[in-house]
Amino acid sequence: MTAAGTLADPLAARLAHSLADPAALDALFASHLEGVALRTSRALEACGYSGLLMHSGSLLPIFQDDRTYPFEVHAPFKVWAPLLDVPDSFLYFEPGHRPLLVFHQPDDYWYKPPALPQGYWTRHFDIRPWRDRDESRRLLPRSLRSTAFLGDALEELASWGVGDINPPHLIRHLDYSRAAKSPYELACLRHASVLGARGHLAAARAFGAGAAEFEIELAFLAACGLREQDLPYNPIIALNGSGAVLHYQMLETHPPAERHSLLIDAGAEFAGYASDITRTYSHRDADFATLIERMDHMQQSLCCGVKAGVDWRDVHLRAHHLLAEVLREADIITCGAEEAVATATTSVFFPHGIGHLLGLEVHDAGGFIRSPDGGDIPRPDGHPYLRLTRVLEEGFVVTMEPGLYFIPQLLAAARADGRSTRINWSRVDSLRKFGGIRIEDDLAVTARSCENLTRDAFRTAAGAS
Ligand code: GLY
Ligand code: MN
Ligand code: MN
Repeated sequence: MTAAGTLADPLAARLAHSLADPAALDALFASHLEGVALRTSRALEACGYSGLLMHSGSLLPIFQDDRTYPFEVHAPFKVWAPLLDVPDSFLYFEPGHRPLLVFHQPDDYWYKPPALPQGYWTRHFDIRPWRDRDESRRLLPRSLRSTAFLGDALEELASWGVGDINPPHLIRHLDYSRAAKSPYELACLRHASVLGARGHLAAARAFGAGAAEFEIELAFLAACGLREQDLPYNPIIALNGSGAVLHYQMLETHPPAERHSLLIDAGAEFAGYASDITRTYSHRDADFATLIERMDHMQQSLCCGVKAGVDWRDVHLRAHHLLAEVLREADIITCGAEEAVATATTSVFFPHGIGHLLGLEVHDAGGFIRSPDGGDIPRPDGHPYLRLTRVLEEGFVVTMEPGLYFIPQLLAAARADGRSTRINWSRVDSLRKFGGIRIEDDLAVTARSCENLTRDAFRTAAGAS
């Protein structure tokens, strides 16, 4: 990579910060691309198309304003190339041919146009810059009649003569195959995990020093070396009772008068791949610290059961059984574990799914697909928020994120129904101020077990700091 390339290419800057080795990524990228091309060729054949045109995404204007919403590149585009900030670029693929990247480089002096990409992946593409949309059409094949298009339904597609726009059966094929990650993707996910772990260590230090939620976020971002818009999702940084709000978003700028706990769910991104990590800390309360330890122990026991061939629905149901035991031991419920599960008392404290696919999107696509040709695998009855129902395969990357929360709305509902007598309300009332606990790691599934990307990343990050 040239010195000029290092300055101009945002991915090059990320590489430098992440300590990732460009040569190692280069070595892995060719076979990743081959795999993407092979499965795309099969999907196109199965669905009756001869080519695929993918759009990176558009800048969406804000109502009656001259600004746009932050840009998010479409995942079916970025699985081919780690381009994150290139609105209105196109990738065209025809089986047996080198992929064509039609790269949007407007002649603009209000905003800086993106530099032509350089680096480990670019030599596998035919890259052609364009300045306006008419020009981009001329760079594509003359006929797109049997080409499927994936992306925003741009007005000009009618005049471009594209075969079909976002055909669901093709999307289904592509999403299904995206669940198993290539060695290149696993390397990117490991780097995203190390960046995220660095952020978490800095955030924990900030919490210990008495920081406000917003200051904790700033510490996280600085340690990751990422802007907020570069993160795979808005960090959830919740002090005290706010930990009971599952996707808490407020980021208070002032520290609370009393400090009890921190729940931080925040991940980083590398080359378009996400980490999704949650930790919970007690501030000098030994009882809550013990509850966190129990949840951590239970989460690790669930991780131990992860390997290819495991039905994710069983993992979710087992989590409810293990949680019931934790609730019983901690004197939060008054009934036995079996009864707590059977009566959905555990769902009062753990209302979300045990985990989901992770990759180019934090909640990655394809979690319910039984087969590319049709049919979804339903969620177990009574578990409406589970995002993954498939049997695990080697290369799947999933999160493992059991939780135990004191959520006012769910507790009020339980108090008003038959579950009320199964809950120790004085114990619950004493724990509300802590909000809740979630421990979340990212796991790469192998034939006989799994690789815990997050625990490994914390070790790496702690060793380097
Ligand atoms: N960070 C959102 C989730 O854990 O699913
Ligand atoms: Mn998650
Ligand atoms: Mn999370």
